[in-house]
Amino acid sequence: GKYRVVSTKPMPGTRWINLLIEQDCRVEICTQKKTILSVEDIIALIGDKCDGVIGQLTEDWGDALFSALRRAGGTAFSNMAVGYNNVDVNAANKYGVAVGNTPGVLTETTAELAASLSLAAARRIVEADEFMRAGLYDGWLPNLYVGNLLKGQTVGVIGAGRIGSAYARMMVEGFKMNLIYYDLYQSTRLEKFVTAYAEFLKSTGEKPVTWKRAASMDEVLREADVISLHPVLDKTTFHLINKETLSRMKKEAILVNCSRGPVIDEVALVEHLKENPMFRVGLDVFEDEPYMKPGLADMKNAIVVPHIASASKWTREGMATLAALNVLGKIKGYPVWSDPNRVEPFLNENVRPPA
Ligand code: GLV
Ligand code: GLV
Repeated sequence: GKYRVVSTKPMPGTRWINLLIEQDCRVEICTQKKTILSVEDIIALIGDKCDGVIGQLTEDWGDALFSALRRAGGTAFSNMAVGYNNVDVNAANKYGVAVGNTPGVLTETTAELAASLSLAAARRIVEADEFMRAGLYDGWLPNLYVGNLLKGQTVGVIGAGRIGSAYARMMVEGFKMNLIYYDLYQSTRLEKFVTAYAEFLKSTGEKPVTWKRAASMDEVLREADVISLHPVLDKTTFHLINKETLSRMKKEAILVNCSRGPVIDEVALVEHLKENPMFRVGLDVFEDEPYMKPGLADMKNAIVVPHIASASKWTREGMATLAALNVLGKIKGYPVWSDPNRVEPFLNENVRPPA
């Protein structure tokens, strides 16, 4: 192969590899055992000649890596993730490296995990499973693991982009929940969907669901019974959920986070869980991954899973394929990959290599 493309991790499926090989690329996959690679590890992988890298959200893609990639002749980097808070896009611009991410293919899979966590929290599935396995079940009881009925309750969505909107649709249609959402942008498509669904319910004589776009996040915190967080992580959303905002939520609310850990002040959350045993949380992401803040693992009212929201076979293969196409497109100078779902072909499309 004429071009050298590095993937910092083995990725699922073979399609992404074949796409690169067919187009004159030599693919090198890092097989180092340690889970999280350091900047030094990645600089060593980049070496003297590297045209593009497919990297992971656990890696710190800043000045050091983009300058190393540039020195090796590289022009393309793709995160195998939709979130790119681990990537300093300004540094990439500085060194003329195009940056891609993998939106679209993980929307439904991620929303389905948020829905799973919502249901698991509402129906106390993990606690009940532990009880069963511990051999504690000695007969049906009226009070055993009583949870919340979602139907007719209000689901609150903070950040109604692709994933937040898909989650909202699932909860509204699947469980006949009312919707309140907060986002800087209006989600017209979501509003149209809920409106049409409400009309449908009315036409069959059922109580229609309601929806509203909240004027402030506070409105969602106060009114929703289940709240799911779907913002991007940046300075404005760091610790969006903290001691104060938690205190505005209903005492028996359910909070779900499949976005990024630092959106929640996890120490404050542990306190809140201790003080409010009926408050429940479903977390896919953590403030200091792979660690949990002290006490979180002991809380019965918390469900914790290891950042697996996008982990369906279809989606992970799709993410790998999209990441490969991002890098390939840049290297070969194709007019970029044009899936209709894909609204961000390159995050910094207009980047120019330094003269
Ligand atoms: C996963 O967390 C992603 O951003 O794709
Ligand atoms: C519960 O199992 C019931 O039959 O009501």
